[in-house]
Amino acid sequence: MIILGIESSCDETAASIVQDGTKILSSIVASQVDVHHKYGGVVPELASRMHIEAITPVVDEAIKKANITVKDIDGIAATRGPGLIGALLVGFSFAKSFAFASNLPFAGVNHLEAHIYSLFLMDNKPQFPFIALVVSGGHTNIYYVTSYNNFELMGQTRDDAAGEAFDKVAKMLDLGYPGGPVIESLAKTEDPDVIKFPRTMLEKNSFDFSFSGLKSSVGRYIHNNPITCREDQAQIAASFQEAVIDVLSQKLINAALYKNCNAIGVSGGVSANQTFVKKLSKKAANKDIKLFSPPVELCGDNAAMIAARGYTMIQQGSLCKLDHDVFSKSKID
Ligand code: KG4
Ligand code: ZN
Repeated sequence: MIILGIESSCDETAASIVQDGTKILSSIVASQVDVHHKYGGVVPELASRMHIEAITPVVDEAIKKANITVKDIDGIAATRGPGLIGALLVGFSFAKSFAFASNLPFAGVNHLEAHIYSLFLMDNKPQFPFIALVVSGGHTNIYYVTSYNNFELMGQTRDDAAGEAFDKVAKMLDLGYPGGPVIESLAKTEDPDVIKFPRTMLEKNSFDFSFSGLKSSVGRYIHNNPITCREDQAQIAASFQEAVIDVLSQKLINAALYKNCNAIGVSGGVSANQTFVKKLSKKAANKDIKLFSPPVELCGDNAAMIAARGYTMIQQGSLCKLDHDVFSKSKID
C-alpha cells in the first residue's frame, strides 16, 4: 500500500511517499527557517502563505522522487493537528481535495502520534510496551505506548516546551531561530558544569515538566553577568543544555522504571540533539534500558512519519470525512 503523507503544522512544508507503512520512497521537506529567522520565531501568517506557495511543488517532487505516478497512490494522510491553524489548513485542505479528486481514502493524522511513528520507520524498532518522549518546539510529552494505537499520556510540560526553551535562550544569547542546533554546536567546546542552572523535577513520581524557571534563571544570569565574548555565550549554552538534558533523561528513565519497561524512544526536533541522545543512551544503559532514536532527518517535522501513521489509520478504516476540520490544541473529535 502506497501512502502520500503531507505535513504543514508549523514551518516545514513536507510530503513523502511511504510503502507499507515502513519503506520511505521519498521524503521532501521545504523549510521556512530562513524567512522566520529574522523575527526570532515562527510568524503564523507568513507560515501559512509560504505553505500555499510550497505545497504543490513539494508534493510533485515527492511523487517524482519516489518514481511513481498519482495512479500508484493508495491513500493520503495529512496532519490534522496540533499546530498553527492557518498552516494546518493548507496541507489538510490540499490533501482532502487530492483524496476527493482521486477517490482515495484520507486520514487526518495527530502530529504527536506521528512523531512516535518515526520510531517505526527505523529497521531496529522498539517492541511494545515502551516509553516515548516527544520533545519539540511545541511539546514535551511522555507516553506509555502499548500498541500502534495506544498512547497513554504520562506527563507533559506545564509551561514551555523543551524546544521552546532552547529557542528562547538562543534569543537571549542573540543566536537567532531555531535555537536548538546553534546552542548544541556552541556547547560542544565548554564544560557544562560550570554554571549551575536549576533542574526542575516537580513532585515525586510526576512525569510533568517545567522549563520556564530554567529560562528565567538563564535570563537573570545574563543580566548579572553581561556577555562580553563568544566564550561567555558558549558557557551559558552548555550549562543550559545540560540542565535540559538532565531533566529529560531523569524523567524518561523514571517513567520506564515506573512502568517496568526496558525500552524508551525519543522523537521530535530536540531529539536531533546528539549530546542529549548520547547522554540519555548511557544513563539508560546503566539501568538496562535500551534507547531508540530516529536518524536526524526523521527527528524534526517530516511527512514520512505522517504517512506511516496514516497507513495504520487507513488500514483500520479510521478515515476523515470532507467536513472534518483541523485542530490547534485539543484532541481529535
Ligand atoms: O519537531 P520540530 O521540528 O517542530 C515542532 O513540532 O515543534 O521541533 C522544532 C524544535 C525547535 O524548538 C528547535 O530549536 C528544536 O526542535 N531543535 C533542537 C535541535 N534541533 C532542533 N533542540 C535542541 N538541539 C537540537 N540539535
Ligand atoms: Zn513536530
